[in-house]
Amino acid sequence: MSFAYRDGVYCAEGLSLEVVAQRYGTPCYVYSRAAIESAYREFEQAFAVADPHRRALICYSVKANSNLAVLSLLARLGAGFDIVSGGELARVRAAGGDLRKVVFSGVGKTEAEIVQALEAGILCLNLESGEELERTDAIARRLGLRAAVAFRVNPDVDAKTLPYISTGLKQNKFGVSYAEAERLYRDAAARPNIEVAGVGCHIGSQLTDPAPLADAARRIVALAERLERHGIALRHVDLGGGFGIRYNHESPPSIGIFIATLCGALGARRETLIVDPGRAIVGNAGVLLTRIEYVKRGEARNFAVVDAAMNDLLRPALYQAWHEVVAVRPAGVAIDSYDVVGPVCETADFLGKERKLSIVSGGLLAIRSAGAYGMAMSSNYNSRPRCPEVVVSGARAELVRPREHVEELYSQESIPAW
Ligand code: LLP
Repeated sequence: MSFAYRDGVYCAEGLSLEVVAQRYGTPCYVYSRAAIESAYREFEQAFAVADPHRRALICYSVKANSNLAVLSLLARLGAGFDIVSGGELARVRAAGGDLRKVVFSGVGKTEAEIVQALEAGILCLNLESGEELERTDAIARRLGLRAAVAFRVNPDVDAKTLPYISTGLKQNKFGVSYAEAERLYRDAAARPNIEVAGVGCHIGSQLTDPAPLADAARRIVALAERLERHGIALRHVDLGGGFGIRYNHESPPSIGIFIATLCGALGARRETLIVDPGRAIVGNAGVLLTRIEYVKRGEARNFAVVDAAMNDLLRPALYQAWHEVVAVRPAGVAIDSYDVVGPVCETADFLGKERKLSIVSGGLLAIRSAGAYGMAMSSNYNSRPRCPEVVVSGARAELVRPREHVEELYSQESIPAW
């Protein structure tokens, strides 16, 4: 177990989180290297079992956690990367990732980002509109190269996840419509500076049922078959990410089942299968470590006021997302129910509500499953310096991003002379 109690103290691998807090302070993100590695290997293994002869590429979705230490670890394991900005491309490069294994999705790629991606020689640009095809074609002509592209096709299936992280419905802004896809492919295939490489789709995140994924995959396969009849052959099918993890009582299928479902939908088609998991690789590989500043007993509620806040972990405030909260060393006092809240001036600033905990002020809490969309979505709201990130491996810990200093937050600002 990467995060578990040992002798009554909650640990990351072989290191007590009390030691981590002492060394690096709180709040602090703590990642388990072994957990990231084993999640990646689970995908590899799932492909090997489900469809050993199919070429597959696991493109880690950088948006989930973009620390260079995480990217570099995954690059060394052989991962490709799914990116959504020039910034993420720069990070993959800085981490030593293989740019030929990069797919670039995103609904609003700028001219500069497309130039950057083409010059880097990435695997594929996932286009999301006819206008983006025009822009990419013009840039490729100017640069005198061929742009490898796919369309991100919106299969119009209901992912049955939280409304804000569902992306595959007609009313979502993502991708090109299923009906329009065929025409766009024919247009793309006729352009000398465009090379049709594949097709992409992503229906949503935190999926706990493989059925909508299978539906989407079947629709994409039907499209690939139609394209083939028009003489358009695809090298890869990118079926996205979205594989759900366990935060609370969810019981998501195993990665093995998810991957077997996708391989099954592809059937005898021989395209390379690309998946772009983010959360399933890093979500349960990280905790947010925080100290209780005050225990406040109210008439209606008790509060544990902690030193982490919505600026550090936005998911509860933004999505009402549930993260398990555990006492690093249960205090031995009576268990009571607490809302775990931060110091930010917003009612939405909570990390957990009505949690049964044995705590006293000064104690440490670990907010679990915070490895994905935690630090990556953090901000400096309320002029709070962003917290450090630490990777643990066995009994070793390494600071992979230091705590920000308050002065850094305004060092680029200036006061007009007038
Ligand atoms: N591929 C594409 C094209 C995506 O848009 C996304 C996520 C992924 C892959 C990775 O999805 P994952 O495997 O991590 O579920 N901030 C939200 C999640 C937003 C996901 C957006 N797209 C959250 O905290 O739950």
